[in-house]
Amino acid sequence: MDVPRAAFLPDVMWPHDMATGRSVAVSRALDPEGWWRWAGADAPIVMQWDDGAHEGVEPGGSFSSSSSMPSLVFSMLRDLDVRPGQRVLEVGTGTGWNAALLAHRVGAANVVTVEVDGAVAARGRAALERFGAPVEVVHGDGALGRPERAPFDRVIVTCGVRDVPGAWVRQTRPGGVVLVPWGTYYGADEATARLVVDEDGRTASGAFTRSVAFMRMRSQRSVWPRHDAYVFGAEAMDAAEVSYTDVPEDGLRRAGFVVGLRVRHVARNADRERGGRRAVWFYGLTDRSWAVVVFRDGRERAKVYQSGARRLWDEVEDAFRWWERHGRPGPERFGLTVGADGRAPAAWWDGDRDAAWPV
Ligand SMILES: C[S@@+](CC[C@H](N)C(=O)[O-])C[C@H]1O[C@@H](n2cnc3c(N)ncnc32)[C@H](O)[C@@H]1O
Repeated sequence: MDVPRAAFLPDVMWPHDMATGRSVAVSRALDPEGWWRWAGADAPIVMQWDDGAHEGVEPGGSFSSSSSMPSLVFSMLRDLDVRPGQRVLEVGTGTGWNAALLAHRVGAANVVTVEVDGAVAARGRAALERFGAPVEVVHGDGALGRPERAPFDRVIVTCGVRDVPGAWVRQTRPGGVVLVPWGTYYGADEATARLVVDEDGRTASGAFTRSVAFMRMRSQRSVWPRHDAYVFGAEAMDAAEVSYTDVPEDGLRRAGFVVGLRVRHVARNADRERGGRRAVWFYGLTDRSWAVVVFRDGRERAKVYQSGARRLWDEVEDAFRWWERHGRPGPERFGLTVGADGRAPAAWWDGDRDAAWPV
């Protein structure tokens, strides 16, 4: 391979085993064979935990920089459709591997990559130089783009966002592409939006290309609703409105991206299983409405509790039924329109941009 991933990976790294869902440290010095095996595997590899605050070889609390799985990296580059000589901005340098792949295609002088973490940026810059791909690596907030190097033909974002910064649209020439992993606060479900900037440069719009799972941009991490700010006191459950539902638990999970598109301002959180009981909570993000649906082993219907001005479960169930009635569509049937002024994005369905709704 012209641009091997191994050239960009650190000596100690934490491959994410997709089968077990766990990350385990691998050291190039102590286990060279294992290191090389993982370097060549189609798995994400964590290289930093907890924004660099975590030290040692045990995995930290949450990963904050990683090398994405190669199959995803290549799919995104295919979606980006980048041609020799085009000018590209990457947001999220990480290891530098993707920047090197871009440089291989368009020339290192045409690529600039922005990384928010100082240590990660320095490491990525050194790896790119060592490899002979002297891409400009900027330590800063990628949400600002890189105005000094604009206009770009392509912007590729390798962290997830909720709001698409207007700077990316403004810094991309008409007809250029912004490829960005996007999702709501409803849950972790995300998809890459391939946004084409329109002729007057005021909006960018396009269909989602595939489901993905990225770490969120630092400034847009979900601020998790505090449960006890919604549900207070033992009597809260007694006072809630009770009903039952036959929405299946796995269906609710699978519909996550679409429900997130159709129900605004709601966050979802699934509790850990306890004695065959699994509760999924919903919190209103603009008021204190909440709902919980409780699935139990062996029961066909789940019990629902709702409280507050909104009936959050009813909204979620409506969206779920819509998803079922329309043949359980994936993200590819939807699209997104965003503005150069950073206004709230709008989603659309089956190419009907005129019927877009705010998300
Ligand atoms: C999945 S990793 C990127 C992988 C990288 N493209 C590669 O080839 O290894 C996501 C990166 O986005 C960075 N990031 C998060 N928020 C950012 C921001 N506001 N601006 C720039 N980079 C950011 C993280 O620090 C992390 O290194």
